[in-house]
Amino acid sequence: MDNKSYIDPENIPQHVAIIMDGNGRWAKQHGEDRIFGHHEGVNSVREIVEACGEIGVKYLTLYAFSTENWNRPKDEVDALMELLVATISLETPNLHSKGVKLHVIGDVKSLPQSCQAELNESIKITANNNKVNLILALSYSSKWEITNAVKQIAEKVKSNQIELKDINSNLIDKHLNTSAFPDPELMIRTSGEHRISNFLLWQLAYAEFYFTNTLWPEFRKEDFYKAILSYQKRERRFGLTGEQIQQP
Ligand code: FPP
Repeated sequence: MDNKSYIDPENIPQHVAIIMDGNGRWAKQHGEDRIFGHHEGVNSVREIVEACGEIGVKYLTLYAFSTENWNRPKDEVDALMELLVATISLETPNLHSKGVKLHVIGDVKSLPQSCQAELNESIKITANNNKVNLILALSYSSKWEITNAVKQIAEKVKSNQIELKDINSNLIDKHLNTSAFPDPELMIRTSGEHRISNFLLWQLAYAEFYFTNTLWPEFRKEDFYKAILSYQKRERRFGLTGEQIQQP
């Protein structure tokens, strides 16, 4: 039987976050330049969005471009931005027909105008969908996001809109880019790297991590379902003991 048929439909994570890593290495293995790997990576994105729809994952966050990625060679950054624009434009009808709602987190204003325009258009077109929420992290880093949240909260204290005692975990959640989404229960990173790389540091506090050696362009539905099965075998304790969790 395939991995999908073993999945327990009662224990599907609501939100899965993915660090899509290994495009460059995959391209090199195939004697191609790095951008070829990013192009291939789009096929994996399409498959995994579909897989989420099939098993009922409601939120999928993809780390597509980090704040640090701006420091890559200019050719690669330009090509990635072009690929983003082309992909969003080409894939929006497909996303829309599958009930996918697009969101973006990150420093969107730092993206090229063409990219911002394409994203806004797609967000508008898909605004009323509710099968899967696809959240693209673009020009995103968690330290950038948390720093912004701290600044906003400090401003509110300074202008007496809130008091110091009002600052708690919920208030911080509300000032993050992800305020409209539940925290991910599962974080997947491909390509054999075991790092979190400035991705959703706050939101992943209690997430289960799944690492695979598979490079992103080769990551397919069956690999995703395997990650879900691994998640379903974990005991999520949230700081409690195993015995406390098992109590009815
Ligand atoms: C990491 O691999 C991948 C990226 C920085 C870009 C991811 C982008 C895509 C998959 C394409 C566009 C996506 C969407 C959502 C339209 P890497 O380049 O760091 O690989 P390496 O570690 O092997 O060098």
